[in-house]
Amino acid sequence: MEFSNKSVGGQDVQELVSQKATLHVEKNNYRPRMPPILKGLFATLEGEPTQCQTDAIICKTLFPNTFGQPSITFVPHSGDKAIPSTAGRKFKVGVVFSGGPAAGGHNVLTGLLDFMKRRNQESELIGFLGGPAGIVDKKCTTVTEEAISHYRNLGGFHFLGTGRTKIETDDQLQASLRNCAELELDGLVIIGGDDSNTNAAVLAEYFKAHNSTTCVVGVPKTIDGDLRNEDIEASFGFDTATKVYSYQVSNLCFDAISAMKTYHFVRVMGRDASHITLEVALQTHPNLAFISEEVASGSVSLLGVVEQIATLVVDRASCKKHYGVVLIPEGLVGFLPDMKLLIAELNELMASADEGAQMDPSAFDSAVLTANARKLYDSLPEFILRQMMAERDPHGNVQVAVIETERLLAHMVRTRLDELKRSGEYTGKFGCMSHYFGYEGRCSYPSKFDSDYCYTLGNTAAALLECRRTGMVATVKNLVAEPHEWVVGGTPVTSMMNIERRKGKDKPVVKKKLVDLEDAPFQTLKRLRRSWMLNDDYRVPGPIQHEGSCRDQRNFTLMLEAAARKGPATGTQK
Ligand code: FBP
Repeated sequence: MEFSNKSVGGQDVQELVSQKATLHVEKNNYRPRMPPILKGLFATLEGEPTQCQTDAIICKTLFPNTFGQPSITFVPHSGDKAIPSTAGRKFKVGVVFSGGPAAGGHNVLTGLLDFMKRRNQESELIGFLGGPAGIVDKKCTTVTEEAISHYRNLGGFHFLGTGRTKIETDDQLQASLRNCAELELDGLVIIGGDDSNTNAAVLAEYFKAHNSTTCVVGVPKTIDGDLRNEDIEASFGFDTATKVYSYQVSNLCFDAISAMKTYHFVRVMGRDASHITLEVALQTHPNLAFISEEVASGSVSLLGVVEQIATLVVDRASCKKHYGVVLIPEGLVGFLPDMKLLIAELNELMASADEGAQMDPSAFDSAVLTANARKLYDSLPEFILRQMMAERDPHGNVQVAVIETERLLAHMVRTRLDELKRSGEYTGKFGCMSHYFGYEGRCSYPSKFDSDYCYTLGNTAAALLECRRTGMVATVKNLVAEPHEWVVGGTPVTSMMNIERRKGKDKPVVKKKLVDLEDAPFQTLKRLRRSWMLNDDYRVPGPIQHEGSCRDQRNFTLMLEAAARKGPATGTQK
C-alpha cells in the first residue's frame, strides 16, 4: 500500500514516526543543574570518625584499612592549602552500573565525565560493560563525550548495561585489582544499591591492602529507596519510579470507581523495604496499602493479611461498593513471620545444595522442614512454591520480583469470601484483577529531580576521587532545596554496614533502611488512611511533568523527612 506524504498540521507524519520522540530530544537537550561549588575548586570539611550499624568489632577486623573514616562535605576553599593537590591533573576513572536499573543513571556518567573534562580535557572515563562482571573480565569501553551525548537525561542503563555479580572470591578480587592496574585507573565508581556498595567497600579495602592507587567510590542508586542514612537523603531512581507507579495506580483507582466491578490487587516493586508502596499510597490514597514493616511489627501472618482484605471487601460491600484498590509491597512475603520462617528454611536448604540451585516443589519432600514451616508449605498453591524456590540472586537474595503475592492473596481472599458467603456474612460479588508494577518504573525518562540529582552525584563522585578518597559513597544533601543550595560530599560505606546471613553464611553487608514506623511518612499515612477504606478519596498526581509548575515537585517521602529533620551538620575544615 502507498502511504501519502501529505502533512498534518504542517508536519510530515511519515517522517515524524521515523524520528526520535519530541520529548526524547527535549530531555536530551536539557542542561541539568548542580551546586556551583563543583564547578570550581573546593576544600573538604571532615566530620567525626564513623562507626558501623552493628557488629563494629567484626566490621573493623574485616575492613582494617577503610573502617572509621569521617564523612566529608565540600566547602568553598580558603587559601592554597585547601585545594586538593590532584586538582587539574589528568585522571582516568572506571565506572560500572550494578544491580537493577534506576532512572538517571546515564546522568551519573555525564556528571562524571563533565567534571573530569572540566578539570583536564585529557581525562578519560572507562565504562565496564554488563555490571561488576565487566570489571572481573575486563570488558570495557571508553565513554567519549560524543557517545554519551546521545544518552544525556535519558532513562535506562543501556549505555553500559548492568548485572548483579557479587565480587567476593579471591580470583574475582585479584582479577579486579589486576584489571584496574592494567587500565591505570585512578578511580573506580560503582553505581549501585546496598549489595553493590558492599562490593565497593570490599574492593576499596582489598585495593588499599594491596597498595593499589585505584580509589573506589560508590553512588547511591536504587528505586527501592532503602540505601539511606543521615548523609544519604535519597537513592536515585526512587523519585521517578514512584511517580511512574503513582500515575498507574491512580489510573486504576479511577477505572475501579468508574466500572464499579473490580478489586485491583497491585504489587509494587521494592525488594525489602516498603518505601515505594508508602510513597505511592501517599500520592494516590488507595483503599488499603500494606506496609511490610508495620505488618512485621504486629506479627501479622499470611492469613491475617487475607483477613484484613476480606474485611475491607465485606465492609465496602455493605456500602454497595464492590470495587477497590489494594497495594501490596513486593517484599511483604519476607516480613510475614510464617512466610519468613519458610523462606529462611528454604534458603538454608538451597545454600547447602549446589551453588545456584533451584528446587522443584514436585520433587521436594516437605518433611525436611520444621512443623510450622511444613504446615504453611503444604497449604500453599504450587505456583507460589515454585516461585519461592527459584534460584537466589548472586547476593543470596530471594527473587521477590518473581513471587506473585498479589495472585496468592487474590486466590486466598476469594476462598475466604466464599466461606463468609456460606456463613451468610457476605453477600457481594467479588471480581478481582492482579497487577505487578515493577520493571516499568526503573527505566523511564528521569524526573527533573533525578536528572539534576544524578548529574550532581556524578560530579560529586569525581570530586571525591580528585581528593583521593576511597571506600566512600557520594552524598548530596538538602535535596528539597534548589540544586544550587545542595550540599555535596561523601560518607564511608563501612558506616552503613552490619552482618547479615547470606547463602547460609554471616556476611558484612550494607544495611537496608526500612520504613521507620515513627517517621513522618508512615505517621502521615497512618493519620490519613482510615477514611480511604470506605470513602473513595483517590488522588491523581498525573504523569511525570518535565515542564510547567509541577516539574520540580519532590516526592512526599523526601519532603516529609526534610520537614521533620533537625539541625545542620558540624565539623572541622581540613
Ligand atoms: P537494586 O537494589 O539493585 O536497585 O534493585 C532493586 C530491584 O529493582 C527490586 O525492587 C527488585 O526486587 C529487584 O531489583 C529485581 O531484580 P532483577 O532486576 O534482578 O529482577
